[in-house]
Amino acid sequence: MILGDGGEATAASRKSQSNEPAVRRKSLAGRGNVRYSRFPHLDGIPPRILPARTPPPAMQTPIQFAGETHSNQIRTTIAMQEPVALRTFTPSQGVLARSAGVFHFTPEGRRLYDYTSGVLVANLGHNPRRWLQRFAHYMAWTPELIGGELAAEGEYGEAVTMTAYNAITPVEAESVKRLVKNVQSWPGGRRLDTVMWAASGSEAIQKALWACLHRDPARDLILATRYGFHGKKGLAGAVTGSEADPERDPRVKFISFPRQEVDDVSKYGQSLDLGPYEAELEALWKEHGSRINCLITEPYLGGGGSYHVPAAYHQMLRRFCDAHDILLILDEVQANFGRTGRMFAFEACGIEPDFVVLGKGLGNGVPVSAVVGRGDVMASLKYGEASDTWSANPLGCAAVLATLDEFETTDVLARTRELTPVFFAGLNRLKETGLIAKVRGEGMVFGIECAAGLGLDSRHVAVEIVKAAYLGEPGGDGIHLLGPLAGNVIRISPPNVITRAQAIASLGLLHRVISRLAGRGTSPANGVAAVLASAR
Ligand SMILES: Cc1ncc(COP(=O)(O)O)c(C=O)c1O
Repeated sequence: MILGDGGEATAASRKSQSNEPAVRRKSLAGRGNVRYSRFPHLDGIPPRILPARTPPPAMQTPIQFAGETHSNQIRTTIAMQEPVALRTFTPSQGVLARSAGVFHFTPEGRRLYDYTSGVLVANLGHNPRRWLQRFAHYMAWTPELIGGELAAEGEYGEAVTMTAYNAITPVEAESVKRLVKNVQSWPGGRRLDTVMWAASGSEAIQKALWACLHRDPARDLILATRYGFHGKKGLAGAVTGSEADPERDPRVKFISFPRQEVDDVSKYGQSLDLGPYEAELEALWKEHGSRINCLITEPYLGGGGSYHVPAAYHQMLRRFCDAHDILLILDEVQANFGRTGRMFAFEACGIEPDFVVLGKGLGNGVPVSAVVGRGDVMASLKYGEASDTWSANPLGCAAVLATLDEFETTDVLARTRELTPVFFAGLNRLKETGLIAKVRGEGMVFGIECAAGLGLDSRHVAVEIVKAAYLGEPGGDGIHLLGPLAGNVIRISPPNVITRAQAIASLGLLHRVISRLAGRGTSPANGVAAVLASAR
């Protein structure tokens, strides 16, 4: 099973990829009679079997593209001096020199439509001027501070501190107040009255789970949706994936999330048979009863392949949790701040979670995350039990304020919802190429599932499409995509601020690129006209 927004393997598959060649294992077998001249007391003990050395990162062959001299040099530096583990596999390995709005620019000056928003982070686009100005305002970064003459203004300027461990800043107080107010203003936000900051999504997930588990040590089990993605570290890693991972935490029990029923937009609107899901929950309650502490799920299965479910599913989970006093954690790290066409996805799910976990779009590019939820449960954590260097740091808090300002004073949510049908139309049309089998999504987050073709399986087709989109049209634009998720699904998640014209142009470009790959070819004019016609 491949998880997350790329080709990262679970511990199960990592384990099966032992570095030790079979032949070496064999040759060391049966060496119990070995003698050590300098350590006679060890005679008879077999030598420790050392794994064969893996090639150092410097031996990784860097991805290279013809004509990208500067980008290729940068890719080579990275390949020599960073392990590949640092990023998930994306066959283009785009080098992004500058970005503005929905575009990235390569060092060679090629323009790429950003169909990733980072990884669903830059919902307001890249470097939005008004956001930057507000961010600078909250940090008290005046033009004199940033641009003033050192000699005239002095070596240090007075502004908001960038780090404030175990102290409190006014910007933190302001952002807590504003975030809670905003969250509570949406239907379903009533219980969410307290904020626990973190720097990454997985840290916030870990903190939410800590708070729940501390509530009652006798209730030590966590329910998590199978094939969910909540991060890779600590408890976030434990609730990610499925029971197929032999290293899983025994405190985590997995439940099913609908997938086949919602694997293509053509199935949307059909009623969902909740019977099997209810039965699974009740069986777990029968087996473990009040040891079950909390349940964590996503509004839609993101890294697991982009499966978007009817609200009835989450409402059933809420009913189950209510019936048994189980805390419900909704992981909105990916979904929050407009991604689903709503400020928060819990509104569309029609539920009141006990905790929402926020991240990614919360800071529009500044690393910040937060658990917003029940203060009475978080109170079970004592001084220092959820502290770290970066939580509640002023940079993150200023970014949250600037992002809230934008969402509260612009029509970005309405514009997102207006463009959803344009994307469905443009993406559905890709099925004509024969290389796209299924399309799903909502708001401004879509998954297109590839079909086998070109003599390749669907996973390799997905890789070829990502590469072809990056290369785009000769002398023209390309499209920046993430590496396939869940094997053969390509994520389409441009910034929410993409305009209608940009949406139509980029969807037309994607159609031409995939058609050319499939050997079918379309004229550029037809591509745009057809997207326009089908979006009406
Ligand atoms: C739903 C969800 N939860 C949690 C995470 C983990 O966030 P981070 O990578 O910031 O730790 C992700 C990341 O993709 C995610 O999509």
